[in-house]
Amino acid sequence: MEKKWWKESVVYQIYPRSFKDSNGDGVGDLNGITEKLDYLAKLGIDVIWLSPVYRSPNDDNGYDISDYRAIMDDFGTMSDFDRLLDEAHRRGIRIVMDLVVNHTSDEHPWFVESRKSEDNPYRDFYIWRPARNGRPPNNWGSCFSGSAWEYDARTDMYYLHLFSKKQPDLNWDNPEVREEVFDMMNWWLDKGADGFRMDVISLISKDPDFPDGVPGINGYASFTEPANGPHVHEYLQEMRKKVLDGRDTLTVGECSGVTLEEAKKYARSDGRELNMVFQFEHMDVDADGSNKWSDKKMDLRELKKIMTKWQKGLDTVAWNSLFWENHDQPRSVSRFGDDGRYRETSAKMLATCLHMMQGTPYIYQGEELGMTNVPFCDISDFRDLDSINAYYELTGRGIFTKEQMLRFLRYKSRDNARTPFQWNSEENAGFTTGEPWIMVNPNYTEINAEEQMKRETSVFCYYQKLIRLRKQHEIIVYGSYDLLLPEDKELFVYTRALGTEKLLVICNFYGNTRCFELPEEWDSRKTKILIANYSDAAVEKTITVRPYEALVLQNRP
Ligand code: NOJ
Repeated sequence: MEKKWWKESVVYQIYPRSFKDSNGDGVGDLNGITEKLDYLAKLGIDVIWLSPVYRSPNDDNGYDISDYRAIMDDFGTMSDFDRLLDEAHRRGIRIVMDLVVNHTSDEHPWFVESRKSEDNPYRDFYIWRPARNGRPPNNWGSCFSGSAWEYDARTDMYYLHLFSKKQPDLNWDNPEVREEVFDMMNWWLDKGADGFRMDVISLISKDPDFPDGVPGINGYASFTEPANGPHVHEYLQEMRKKVLDGRDTLTVGECSGVTLEEAKKYARSDGRELNMVFQFEHMDVDADGSNKWSDKKMDLRELKKIMTKWQKGLDTVAWNSLFWENHDQPRSVSRFGDDGRYRETSAKMLATCLHMMQGTPYIYQGEELGMTNVPFCDISDFRDLDSINAYYELTGRGIFTKEQMLRFLRYKSRDNARTPFQWNSEENAGFTTGEPWIMVNPNYTEINAEEQMKRETSVFCYYQKLIRLRKQHEIIVYGSYDLLLPEDKELFVYTRALGTEKLLVICNFYGNTRCFELPEEWDSRKTKILIANYSDAAVEKTITVRPYEALVLQNRP
């Protein structure tokens, strides 16, 4: 397998609005991030993925961009950005930008022009269609509730928006759109950015027939209906030629609705498209059919099956991205671990299970502290339009009661990941001296970076160690993966192999104590513990695996 720095790296995602506020306005900003670069260097990460920092009216917290070459006022100025980039590079940390080009804001000058008239030169930058029998052109739903089509009386037509109606979809079939996007990407790379995380890049090419899809519980087809459209690979190959070729970048595509076969094309190892993809199958493991709004707990066997399919399926032909969290997901320790008694132990177990797999690991801010879901009380505590729209849509239609919906939001809302980073036990967790834009999780007095950096047994220090191990052992990066005990409901056990070297990763996802027999070929006397989340872990022929215990064993040939 070809060696690449981006395979050997650990990426840290920053959601700037919630990371660190340097000027007391209650919103995180670029200077706040620069202030905390030493913290990230200490953690040991190699790359920052910066969620959008561009000018935006903030309908979707920056994922609705009105100027791709300007910085959002809340976050600072372009010279603040340049300083952040310089300071990061000085510490050997690269910065990957969020590229949001499936759609723009409706306040982007292109859309302002486009909606004016049918013969406006920007008309064809977006996707306009007439009504079908007095109704929207098809049954596609927006990711954020309701139809994906918005009627615009000025020209008596609908425009497509797979996200909010303030996020109209760009028309990638128009070569002028592609040229604009490629120019803008070159501009950021010339400035020194180190690559792109590409927002819903799997959705950019739409079937020109706009066929109806299968309706979900709200009556609309999923926003992922157009995924992997007819020209997506052609457009990404064009992007490679016009932007990325000859540059040493990291590219990761957010590929909603991607199948394994499609992923092999997006992240192909011949480098003609992207370096790697985010797939989301494992994020549906606790969905209720196609409906994410539920508080169903996952079945570990299902999770193992999905992870294994991607580990084995992409081995040598493409490259995985590994994640439990991002700004769209609840906190993993509350979702897949135990955020009560075993919070620290289970956070470390989840980290072990993920970071020992093949692929590039992504840490979402606060995950390295074991930050948890948030005790939101009322719908007025939420800020995320997805959560708020779903609440009103699904309770309004009588599909769920308000109590049910609040329970689901507390479990699944994106806002769980968006409360301020917990720096210390001072007011507002040290995030801001002002009024934070969203509530602070009250557990910051107990869970915060300052306390964890001082304590060797903390989740933070465990992450430091995991990252260090990755730099010391090639097998963690390049080894092949095999699952053991596929039918076990509590233990996730797998091996990695490279040459004569082997690792055995044992993770208990539950609070029961279990016994695990070392496989025949493993001699307990020639086996050493590489990392474990219990300080007194021991290797014997039969290993007692305690609640949420994780161990990584290494054979000594
Ligand atoms: C995916 C992003 O991760 C999410 O936060 C955003 O709302 C949508 N794409 C729309 O850009």
